[in-house]
Amino acid sequence: MYRLKNSDPVLYQIVREEFNRQKSGIELIASESYVPIEIMELQGSIFTNKTTEGFPGRRYFAGCHVVDKMENLGIERAKKLFNAEHANIQPHSGSQANQAVYSAVLQPHDTVLGLRLDQGGHLTHGNRVNFSGKIYNFISYGLNKETELIDYEELEDLAIKHRPKLIVTGGSAYPRFIDFKRISDIAESIGAYFMVDMAHVAGLVAAGIYPNPVEYADFVTSTTTKTLCGARGGFILCKEKYAKSVDKGVFPGSQGSAHLHIMAAKAYTFKRAGTEEFKDLMKQVVKNAQKLGEILKEYGLRLVSGGTDSHLLLVDLRPKGITGKALEEALDYVGITVNKNMIPFDPEKPMITSGIRIGTTAITIRGAKEEDMEEVGDIIKEVSENIENKNKLDFLKGRVLNLSKRLPLYNGDYDIV
Ligand SMILES: Cc1ncc(COP(=O)(O)O)c(C=O)c1O
Repeated sequence: MYRLKNSDPVLYQIVREEFNRQKSGIELIASESYVPIEIMELQGSIFTNKTTEGFPGRRYFAGCHVVDKMENLGIERAKKLFNAEHANIQPHSGSQANQAVYSAVLQPHDTVLGLRLDQGGHLTHGNRVNFSGKIYNFISYGLNKETELIDYEELEDLAIKHRPKLIVTGGSAYPRFIDFKRISDIAESIGAYFMVDMAHVAGLVAAGIYPNPVEYADFVTSTTTKTLCGARGGFILCKEKYAKSVDKGVFPGSQGSAHLHIMAAKAYTFKRAGTEEFKDLMKQVVKNAQKLGEILKEYGLRLVSGGTDSHLLLVDLRPKGITGKALEEALDYVGITVNKNMIPFDPEKPMITSGIRIGTTAITIRGAKEEDMEEVGDIIKEVSENIENKNKLDFLKGRVLNLSKRLPLYNGDYDIV
């Protein structure tokens, strides 16, 4: 970044500061990953100069014959990776992928069922502070209090009672497999559309270690970040019969010009996610999450739903009498980043919480194996027991730094100069 260094040294220093933070810390935020350097190259590529609207062969601007090739390549790769009939890779984010599907099939005030945010869903699944909850009549389903799995019976009862036009599932903090077939059957029985937001688990789906919702859902939305480990954006998969309405839902329904540089990076993301190396990475991500879960359980913390089938753990801290906020802050102090998170039926407020959410994608990309999870688990335990003890936390900072050196970011093969 030598040009930036000269023309905007202040911003350059901030970029370096963030690079150093990423290098020297341990990242356990479940939605994060480290992208391959090719993704950064493509996101910073000359495609950023081109403006276009519409889709390949149907553009509102001239000069699109090259970007058409790129977008078609990305579409074909997405379809092949997830075995889908149609793909739209233009959504600027996961939220906009969801907005585009809603805009394709719903009218304002239509009734929709979605998983509650405080029980694992996402803001765009009907939360009242979000556009989804303001525009549409979302009814929330939740988890079974005993199993902490989706309460499919409640979902079915609500579906029969409210006759929604669309049922949405998928989540930001749901560690387990979702029974897509069961929800699809419920949707079919009442003549509703069925949409799965697989943003968190798309990489696991691509690797064949999480059920593929494409088989059951009319619409599947996702991000290319999180477990897919790629570009910062969204995409939609659907059956061919919905292709036109989904495309219209994206443009002109909810977006303007396409982010071609990001779409090029998505095309790369889909290619990489089809490799054996990526499959092995995803398998290790899940093994690491399961190992870390066991260690935290041995220490006496409680895992929501008892464990995980994915990259994600939702940890109930109440057995140790600490809050999500306190542990998030103390872990951040020693260099481990996690986020405080509501647990199902949480008695605490959203800014305090009784839980933390942990994900193992980023640390696994740095080469972590089960042995490293023992060190991570032990540091979390020590931090939990010494939240007020600054000397002890300062000592633990050293252990995090050593771990981050043992697991170098980009194998130490990337620098900003
Ligand atoms: C399940 C789910 N859907 C959608 C999104 C939104 O994605 P974005 O942040 O790209 O808008 C997220 C992001 O956290 C998510 O977890």
